Amino acid sequence: MQHRKPIIAGNWKMHKTAAEAKEFAASVNQELKNKTGVEMVVCAPFTVLAVLRESLSDSIAVGAQNVHFAEEGAYTGEIAPRMLTELGVRYVIIGHSERRAYFNETDETVNRKVVASLVHGLTPIVCVGEDLTQREAGDTFAIVEGQTRAALTGATKEQAASLVIAYEPIWAIGTGKSSTAEDANEVIRHIRQVVADLYDQATAGQIRIQYGGSVKPENIGDFMEQPDIDGALVGGGSLQPASYIGLIHGVK
Ligand code: 13P
Repeated sequence: MQHRKPIIAGNWKMHKTAAEAKEFAASVNQELKNKTGVEMVVCAPFTVLAVLRESLSDSIAVGAQNVHFAEEGAYTGEIAPRMLTELGVRYVIIGHSERRAYFNETDETVNRKVVASLVHGLTPIVCVGEDLTQREAGDTFAIVEGQTRAALTGATKEQAASLVIAYEPIWAIGTGKSSTAEDANEVIRHIRQVVADLYDQATAGQIRIQYGGSVKPENIGDFMEQPDIDGALVGGGSLQPASYIGLIHGVK
């Protein structure tokens, strides 16, 4: 079995000004600067990416929460991949359920963004997950399978192995109701199987798949114990420095 390095990514969503981001960095740097064995990421609003990269310890990577698929052009309000890489941004969340729900993100735009990011050396964190109605109808596997297949269309084996998938059941986001670790592992194992079907076992063994949805320092250990869960994508629980540090230390 492959060893996959766990990855904990904070998703700040629409929180924090530049001054607040700087304050966060100052509060976590000392504690996390020598931490090894876990990849640490903070995905922040565009307006704070530069200041965060300058103020955060090198041990913590910076990610964006969206990107456009075009090189450049007449797309008012959008941000191109190379505008991010120039700032030292290494990750980008693509297809978060909030973007799918409120900003017309589709499987097709998700795929175009994944491909454009990979071309520019940005590592996508691709979000997949079912809503409550879909879960209750027993459609969870089919939904995540469809989203995963669509997102990876056109990606080579090497590219697929390098990216991150985040399984976030929509009903567990910001609700305080997390999936059980066992249930999350089962869905994530299915996603890994889809990757094996699309490519091969080696690729499926390399790709990292996170769980997201009401993860906090108190429950991260339960998720990390599961064999197929390689980390977490964390919203509310990543905003306070003490909580972010607690998440990182929760990875044994
Ligand atoms: P919460 O951790 O606040 O439930 O949010 C999860 C999420 O959407 C991370 O992308």
